[in-house]
Amino acid sequence: MTVDLLLKNATLPDGRTGMDIACNDGKITAIESGITAEAGTTIDAAGQLVSPPFVDPHFHMDATLSLGNPRLNVSGTLLEGIALWGELKPRQSIDDIVTRALRYCDLAVSMGIGAIRSHVDICDDALTGVTALLDVQKQVASYLDLQLVAFPQDGIFRDPTAQDNLIRALDMGVDVVGGIPHFERTMADGAASVTYLCELAAERGLPVDMHCDESDDPLSRHVETLAYETSRLGLQGRVAGSHLTSMHSMDNYYVSKLIPLMAEADLQVIPNPLINIMLQGRHDTYPKRRGQTRVPELKAAGLNIGFGSDCVMDPWYSLGTADMLDVASMGLHVAQMGSRADMTWCFEAVTENSAKIMGLDDYGLRPGCRADMVLLQADNPIEAIRLRATRLAVIRAGRVIAQTPPKIARLDLSGRPNALNPAKIIS
Ligand code: FE2
Repeated sequence: MTVDLLLKNATLPDGRTGMDIACNDGKITAIESGITAEAGTTIDAAGQLVSPPFVDPHFHMDATLSLGNPRLNVSGTLLEGIALWGELKPRQSIDDIVTRALRYCDLAVSMGIGAIRSHVDICDDALTGVTALLDVQKQVASYLDLQLVAFPQDGIFRDPTAQDNLIRALDMGVDVVGGIPHFERTMADGAASVTYLCELAAERGLPVDMHCDESDDPLSRHVETLAYETSRLGLQGRVAGSHLTSMHSMDNYYVSKLIPLMAEADLQVIPNPLINIMLQGRHDTYPKRRGQTRVPELKAAGLNIGFGSDCVMDPWYSLGTADMLDVASMGLHVAQMGSRADMTWCFEAVTENSAKIMGLDDYGLRPGCRADMVLLQADNPIEAIRLRATRLAVIRAGRVIAQTPPKIARLDLSGRPNALNPAKIIS
């Protein structure tokens, strides 16, 4: 038997060890122990973790890597970030956005990300961001799945031209309907915006992903409307609520009614741990609220949850390295999910769960899936999170597209030159 790529002696995220993975014509053809085949490329994983790629279900690619342009966010708040973005928007050209986005995509791929869902601001009558990111989507298609959400940053009703712009963006090919109900002028406008946007998505057969209740307001109720409209319109499984931070401040009795409503609607949940631990609780003195939605409780109710990175070096967040393991680590800490099972689940929240949110059908480590994988310098998912493990090899459709040299122990008492990393690629 001859194959294009053979990975030997891998540990899989589900705990299986000593597994070989054969790939042909861009797809996984077999996962078994002891595969013997002639291979164009052989990778000896040496018992280290081979995972499907990381998936980032929530990002803002039109703003990324713009840090300091035209100025820095002094207060560090969400609202100053939105104001600062409003200053930057009219100054940037299509080329500016394309250049920054392509740089970010290169970084993301080197960090083992295989798919990104990015919101793109449509509150700009020229639709500069939409034009730029649709171009980027085409340019990166062979190495990164980029899904775009039409995002009315200034409010679909609050901004006078947002409704027209959103429809134009969808006509141009943007994949998902976005929203920001908590930014509309009133709670009633916010609820009406959820209804309007869900009906629009139902008419067009599109998914929905809304920034929803991204505040500390315990009385914000837009996720309730989002769940209700999802069920009413038969959109179960196709609607995501991003952030949902107000849930951390809501009354417990109310939440005991809300979570079953969300489960009934099969709402997809996207917390963004790095950003919300930074942005929420800004009106608190002490104690300060953590500002992350109720991850363990939503998980226990059977909802699908994927962690997003949201921002890297932009008006809202000045740090970030496209490292989904960093995102998983912050989510784990803020949610206090420290059991072995919960930490392993946090790895799934930046891989499989997020792939489900994005509807990536050929994703995963199974025969028939596209041969997309990451070889990590770690023995298991928990170690990968703990170490922010080096991405030794990133594989797309059966081809190695990025490699990073292993970290080497400074003091190796065994006397072996590279005891931490026995993996190697044999071409
Ligand atoms: Fe966001």
